[in-house]
Amino acid sequence: MTIYSRITGTGSYLPPNRLSNADLVAQLAAQGVDTSDDWIVERTGIRARHFAAPGVFSSDLGLEAARRALQAAGLEAQAIDLIIVATSTPDMVFPSTACILQNKLGANGCAAFDVQAVCSGFVYALTIADAMIKTGAATKALVIGAEVFSRILDFKDRTTCVLFGDGAGAVVLEASSTPGILASDLHADGKHVGILCVPGHVSGGGVLGEPLLRMDGQAVFKLAVGVLDEAARATLAKAGKTEADIDWLIPHQANIRIMQSTARKLKLSMDKVVVTVDQHGNTSAASIPLALDSAVRSGKIKPGETLMLEGVGGGFTWGAVLLTL
Ligand code: UT7
Repeated sequence: MTIYSRITGTGSYLPPNRLSNADLVAQLAAQGVDTSDDWIVERTGIRARHFAAPGVFSSDLGLEAARRALQAAGLEAQAIDLIIVATSTPDMVFPSTACILQNKLGANGCAAFDVQAVCSGFVYALTIADAMIKTGAATKALVIGAEVFSRILDFKDRTTCVLFGDGAGAVVLEASSTPGILASDLHADGKHVGILCVPGHVSGGGVLGEPLLRMDGQAVFKLAVGVLDEAARATLAKAGKTEADIDWLIPHQANIRIMQSTARKLKLSMDKVVVTVDQHGNTSAASIPLALDSAVRSGKIKPGETLMLEGVGGGFTWGAVLLTL
């Protein structure tokens, strides 16, 4: 019998401290940084973001999202045999955030590791979990995207600090006799390392180099719109499907203009695109599972529908996953 993998539960979590654009603009103005609600909304579609309190880490946000996904799947934590956390803001250099989260969840003993593919992290992690389930290496996986990007933002750099937020999203992926994940397509091109990075590294008891996020927004924008279309088309071809088979597009939530362009290229109306960037900004690896969970819980996405998930980000990395819920 062929083994497939299916999403059986979704969950997400946003830390309670919500900053509207007006809140952030006022805070930045007090530090002499000039920006506006109008600029942020017009250029990005972002209206608010959430920031984790001091002492709250990616594992804490991921833990809440994971608990909600487990509850939706009707599973106890002990049933899980694989945990993958996609994050670029891990709790520690090592061990992995997945190990820390596993212990907090009480799922000790199962395989647990992190995936570092920045904003494409969730589609990478989901693809790995799918492959492990198909080979029989796992049967019930938690795939989590969790980030505290507020910790790596330079609040003197208005071109980046207004864009990102903190949060987590999770899915339970289980072995199934019927297909859930239909196809995926992953890519990276390391020659673009410099356009989106946190270049610092730990050495000799300190951080050497810049420990804050640096981005060439226009370069990222241009690359993103091209590669997202390519990845979506390659994934559809692998699954033997066409654009017409997509019920919902769930792109990485970075900028509404990138999403509009991606939808246009796929001949999809914006009614078929799940948009949450307005409410949580760019949460990197957490953005896709956050958007997925919000659309599932609101009843927008229904069981049996076909979803195209698309990630893009630092690396440069990109990829897509086509699945039936
Ligand atoms: O998660 C990984 C994926 N990341 C992304 O997808 C990000 C992709 N890039 C973007 O979303 C956009 O490039 C940005 C939102 C980052 C920037 O939008 P843009 O339309 O490319 O603006 P720009 O960089 O061309 O800047 C236009 C103007 C500049 O002023 P001048 O030179 O025209 O006078 C900037 O200095 O806007 C200015 N500006 C701002 N003004 C007010 C830049 N940031 C701000 C700001 N508030 N926060």
